[in-house]
Amino acid sequence: MDITTGNGNLPKVVIKTAHSTAEIYLLGATVTHFQKHGSEPLLFVSRESVFEEGKPIRGGIPIVFPWFGPREGKAQHGYARRATWEIVGNEVLADGSVRLTLRLPKAAEAAGYPEHSVSYTVTVGKTLRCELTVANESKNDPFSFETLLHTYLLLGDIERVSIGGLSGARYLDAVDNFTEKTDAAEAITIGEEVDRVYAGSTVSTELVDPVMGRRVRTDKSGSKSTVVWNPWIAKSQRMEDFGNDEYRHMICIEPGNVRADAITLKPGEATSLRIELSESPF
Ligand code: BG6
Repeated sequence: MDITTGNGNLPKVVIKTAHSTAEIYLLGATVTHFQKHGSEPLLFVSRESVFEEGKPIRGGIPIVFPWFGPREGKAQHGYARRATWEIVGNEVLADGSVRLTLRLPKAAEAAGYPEHSVSYTVTVGKTLRCELTVANESKNDPFSFETLLHTYLLLGDIERVSIGGLSGARYLDAVDNFTEKTDAAEAITIGEEVDRVYAGSTVSTELVDPVMGRRVRTDKSGSKSTVVWNPWIAKSQRMEDFGNDEYRHMICIEPGNVRADAITLKPGEATSLRIELSESPF
């Protein structure tokens, strides 16, 4: 593991293993790169992304915590993705994977919440594994919050991919005022702005990408929600930190726990959200 200087002079951890390389910014504990040797990168990062302390990175895997979406008078998607995390561990596992452990420092915005701690491990090997653990350290108060690992997957052509695993599942359509819907198609295809919250959903998903010649699987645990998002044309043009044409090369598949699936921990309880990203040939 090396600590280097990344874009915007921000500290960036570089991990190299026998199977892969990965990069993680301490800003937001954002994994911005994972690539198996001989394969293309798995994650999308916008060429327009800002790399500046206090601002989220547009791409990779930003962490949404402790709230999802807008909050009156507060920053969208919480403060975890804007904070500079601390390194607390770094180890090589028996199979040669490398595990980095980070901790979210106490943020001023956390003041209104019960005492809690947040840690994140990133395990780099043949696959990429990320685990977000939240513990309620308060003696008396329950702690309620939302989480998402807001994963930007790189793809060849948005109009030629499909997403398997969510067929027939119930979702809230954020583009249509969170109306509840189901998509009966065997696999989801994208031809317009998509912003869906699959609720009560614990299944794995698979992005099938014939252009890049691969399938990217997202396995998850400790998660009852999956958000699927592609901004399409108009929203891409409105976002300052995103290229107008970049919607063609990304999809966000975001495991977590949001809205009705938000988590409440009793005093002393902890919970972990885990994802594993892996790829196989098309
Ligand atoms: C998704 C939301 O998780 O994140 C979308 O469902 C939102 O509604 C998107 O537009 C990106 O959010 P942000 O704050 O990174 O622009």
